[in-house]
Amino acid sequence: MSLRIEPLGPAIGAIVHGVSLDRPPGDALRDELLAALLKHHVLFFEDQPLTPAQQRDAAARFGTLHVHPIYPHVADVPEIIVLDTSTQNLPDNDNWHTDVTFIQTPPMGALLSARLLPPHGGDTLWAGGIAAYEALSPRVRALVDGLTAEHDMLRSFPAHRFARTPEERERWLAARDANPPVTHPVVRTHPVSGRRGLFVNEGFTARILELGPREGDAILRMLFDHLARPEFTVRWRWKTHDLAFWDNRLTLHYATADYLPHRRVMHRATILGDRPYA
Ligand code: OGA
Ligand code: MN
Repeated sequence: MSLRIEPLGPAIGAIVHGVSLDRPPGDALRDELLAALLKHHVLFFEDQPLTPAQQRDAAARFGTLHVHPIYPHVADVPEIIVLDTSTQNLPDNDNWHTDVTFIQTPPMGALLSARLLPPHGGDTLWAGGIAAYEALSPRVRALVDGLTAEHDMLRSFPAHRFARTPEERERWLAARDANPPVTHPVVRTHPVSGRRGLFVNEGFTARILELGPREGDAILRMLFDHLARPEFTVRWRWKTHDLAFWDNRLTLHYATADYLPHRRVMHRATILGDRPYA
């Protein structure tokens, strides 16, 4: 296979041409994709009509897969989350977040497949935490370096939304008990590239432990705004069977919720990572 990388901007995003992921990538291709991921942070593959099992098997070449404690999954493939949104099940990913940072070893990456798209809208944006960190002034970098923050599942999975029926409530209670808040560095070092970047997100980051609540909220607000600047982002307009593979260690993403009353269905495989360190 001859792989060609088409960058979508200087900070983040590239299209990978000439690759089919219907069979799990061999070692050489996997290493090429990981190198491209380190450089571009999110990769897009077009025309990849994968079954859930094929998507799972491709993702499993990059690490152990995570089974989400709350989101529903494909029948018989628990590693593939189904995000099926419509007026019956409103979108909940229209905020800047990094996936599953509420556990000790948040995902290194995820593979997201577009299964059913609205006639228009439903784009996803990614933001790069390394570019955002590097663009901070030295005095602000010095302030945030060494801080730690609490990440809490309940910020994005509140009972009023995810525990509405008795069955949902049972699952939600088990998820809550199994996932108490965790602490991560505000600035983490990428375990492969060694580059440092911002590791806070509106989805899960609840507070900065070393600061007072008003100080911490103000600093988090400033960092969230900074991370979302267009300079650090890429926006992908999905076509059916597009596949995105992002490095979840130092990126955030946002699913625009502009397509109701139409339906949108996405499948996600999530690859576990290492414990973040400063
Ligand atoms: C996700 C997510 C974005 C989307 O799968 O983690 O946030 O565009 N989805 O559906
Ligand atoms: Mn997400």
